[in-house]
Amino acid sequence: MERQTVRLGIIGAGNVGAALVAMLLDESRFPALLEAVGAPLSISAIAVRDASKVRPGIPAKLLTTDPLALATRDDVDIVVELAGGVDDAYRYVHAALSAGKSVVTANKALIAAKGTELEALARLQNVDLIFEAAVGGGIPILRALRTSLVGEKIHRVMGIVNGTTNFILSAMASDGADYGDVLAEAQRLGYAEADPTADVEGFDAAAKVTILSALSFGTSLEGAAIARQGISAITADDVAFAKRHHYVIKLVGVAERVGEFGISMRVHPAMLPEAHPLASINGAFNAVFVEGAKAGPLMMMGQGAGGNPTASAVLGDILEAGRNRLLGRRSATPDVETNLHMIPQGELQSSFYLTLDVLDRPGVLAAVTSVFGDHGVSIRLMEQSGMGDEARLTLVTHLALESDMTATLEDLQTVDTVDAIGACIRIVGEDLA
Ligand SMILES: NC(=O)c1ccc[n+]([C@@H]2O[C@H](COP(=O)([O-])OP(=O)(O)OC[C@H]3O[C@@H](n4cnc5c(N)ncnc54)[C@H](OP(=O)(O)O)[C@@H]3O)[C@@H](O)[C@H]2O)c1
Repeated sequence: MERQTVRLGIIGAGNVGAALVAMLLDESRFPALLEAVGAPLSISAIAVRDASKVRPGIPAKLLTTDPLALATRDDVDIVVELAGGVDDAYRYVHAALSAGKSVVTANKALIAAKGTELEALARLQNVDLIFEAAVGGGIPILRALRTSLVGEKIHRVMGIVNGTTNFILSAMASDGADYGDVLAEAQRLGYAEADPTADVEGFDAAAKVTILSALSFGTSLEGAAIARQGISAITADDVAFAKRHHYVIKLVGVAERVGEFGISMRVHPAMLPEAHPLASINGAFNAVFVEGAKAGPLMMMGQGAGGNPTASAVLGDILEAGRNRLLGRRSATPDVETNLHMIPQGELQSSFYLTLDVLDRPGVLAAVTSVFGDHGVSIRLMEQSGMGDEARLTLVTHLALESDMTATLEDLQTVDTVDAIGACIRIVGEDLA
């Protein structure tokens, strides 16, 4: 490229876009950015939906309401997609890549839905498609996986990658409060959406696991079958049990190698021993814990969301894409490994925590434990607490196959003295604590 400026077209000036523009216009950072790219950065245009909104710090003359035109403008080298959503963002990013622009995006939903197709287009065009902020906000974990750890055989990546659920579970642990009360408080404080489903049922974390797995193992970015369980069934009693037994309940996203060619991807609440590195990640913080064959265990933690942390990660991508454009190259991305297969959830092993509300009658314990025995699931701990005519049984199993535990749960539903079955939570990470 002969020009001496790398020119940006930014789509979106919301939380992340506005923070990014402020960083790009901060003159005290110009020398560092110039040094990193090899040429100055400039902003050619910023697309928004409503150009009449008051936007402090955003030069009005740069605003446009036509993101598709911005994506293909001659005076744009890198398109930065910070609008969100899937369908419109896909059109903008597809148009930009087709026009030979490099693309930086923070949009995990787009990458988890269309990433393989868009990456193929970026390769064809010899341009970058970089999306660091799509996982873990300000934590540069994807770059670490793409560069420093690219030669490492990774066994497992396990992350707390959703700040809303971590905020809720942390508050339940510190206050002893119920899920519903903490969720309402999180909504009041702006940590949870009015409709919290994507966060609390694990959809957001599943999109991030898809991306982490693609960069760690070469799995496809599209159509990943991720087993998913959210946190809405977790009660204050579950959290209290965890505390008494030195565990912490976290929503974890896991991608791991099983044998040489098997991969498991899942999102579920987990009881982690208090000494596990992820157990101390509280509030809205995120962290990703990686286990590599030679590197051993390592962890990065930081702000999983927020305008400034996310924009910081986006800026890092812009610098990488800008340098690449000047050098006429693109950053390497892992090939999709076609010989990997997904391991069915039932074939995995775990210890499980479970509560059962049962009628307080003679013979109930024998009926319950015989169901576990029928499926070869052995019990390592059982507590009983009275509740009038009922009793609450809290059980922890030894390692068991998930398929055996599922069959146990199904049969427990048919035992007439079992009134209710509570959250079934996997106990993980005991080997690392
Ligand atoms: N916020 C975070 O902490 C965070 C963390 C990690 C990743 N991300 C990702 O970053 C992206 C942006 O998030 P955000 O929080 O900054 O969102 P946001 O505050 O809702 O801002 C979205 C911006 O995009 C503009 N926009 C939306 N649709 C548009 C369209 N069709 N045409 C033109 N402009 C359009 C909006 O314009 P108006 O201003 O006119 O409405 C707004 O400026 C999302 O993909 C999100 O998942 C966010």
